[in-house]
Amino acid sequence: MQPVKLKDDIYWVGGIDWAVRNFHGYLTQRGSTYNAYLIVDEKITLIDTVKYYLCDEMLERISKIVDPSKIDYVVSNHVEMDHSGSLPQVMEIAKNATLITSTKGMPGLRAHYHKDWNFKVVKSGESIKIGKRTLTFVHVPMAHWPDSMVTYLPEDKILFPNDALGQHLASTERFDDEYSMGIIMHEAKKYYANILMLYDKPVSAALKAISGLEIDIAAPSHGIIWRSHIKDIVSAYQKWSANETENKAVIIYDSMWGSTAKIAKAIQTAFENKGTATKMMCLTKNHISDVIVDVLDAKYICVGSPTLNNNMMPTVASFLTYMKGLAPKNRIGLAFGSFGWSGQSVGQVKEMLKDTKMELMEQIKVQYVPDENTLKEITEKVESQLS
Ligand code: FEO
Repeated sequence: MQPVKLKDDIYWVGGIDWAVRNFHGYLTQRGSTYNAYLIVDEKITLIDTVKYYLCDEMLERISKIVDPSKIDYVVSNHVEMDHSGSLPQVMEIAKNATLITSTKGMPGLRAHYHKDWNFKVVKSGESIKIGKRTLTFVHVPMAHWPDSMVTYLPEDKILFPNDALGQHLASTERFDDEYSMGIIMHEAKKYYANILMLYDKPVSAALKAISGLEIDIAAPSHGIIWRSHIKDIVSAYQKWSANETENKAVIIYDSMWGSTAKIAKAIQTAFENKGTATKMMCLTKNHISDVIVDVLDAKYICVGSPTLNNNMMPTVASFLTYMKGLAPKNRIGLAFGSFGWSGQSVGQVKEMLKDTKMELMEQIKVQYVPDENTLKEITEKVESQLS
């Protein structure tokens, strides 16, 4: 339970959640961390807290540096309970602490905890001196919630961007140059796809708001801290929030007796023939929070379902509902599937893709089992629509 030094008198004091595997529906196969940071200056400042069940772990780390009751300021950059969950315990221990939060943060925290803490609401751009250092606050509404705010420490060039730039990744390593960049970037991409994809415009605005800052360290509230690869993650965020896609087709489907799977393969062949990268995602084998990672940078989103009891398969409905909520933009959709007699599923998939504002390719619908000729025709039909 040791703290980790970022710079002189500035420490990571968060909690490592090795066991979490489901974060409100998002599979977190590598666990997570909730990052809190302690700044020891004339005013002792804690930036964010951790999920309630890791509060003791955080307090133990803080106690290695200072007595937690001596904390003067607690900055709540974000109301969501993975970061605010330990506030009741912290504010009880640090009885004289002032709780700094954004304009929307205060009502949000009151509505969560029903406590009359000593709040100080800060405006966007406002600064507070804590001794030889300054805390500057920038509101970044909807990156992730209306209350979201980032804190910047100009003297040390450290940005605390809360959810932004984070990853669900439990590790004892704290910095980007101590861990596999492939894994970090994959988890950062998964985090963006599942948590922030819907908020592309607020994320772009947040990137703009921080673009003039000199940053040596970007210390998010989940996962690894950036110090050697800040440019890489910022440029990935620029690309993702601009909805830039690659020449890639993700083919997402479920199948009952293999017919929709055969159609999926025929569609894959068409994309391959045209030089488009493909990824097959069977929904009985892949969780929707993993499938959405490939949706993030794919130009073509092909979704297939057979008809089951007059409907698309529940796995497909679940994925489409999830994707509609995350609202990827500038994608091209393709609905496909097999059926026995009533055949509603393909039309239902098509409607959901349309609701997700996708441009649509011609749908593909096959009764019972496609033979070799039908599969060849499917490949040709899809190919003919690709440039
Ligand atoms: Fe990590 Fe929006 O909370």
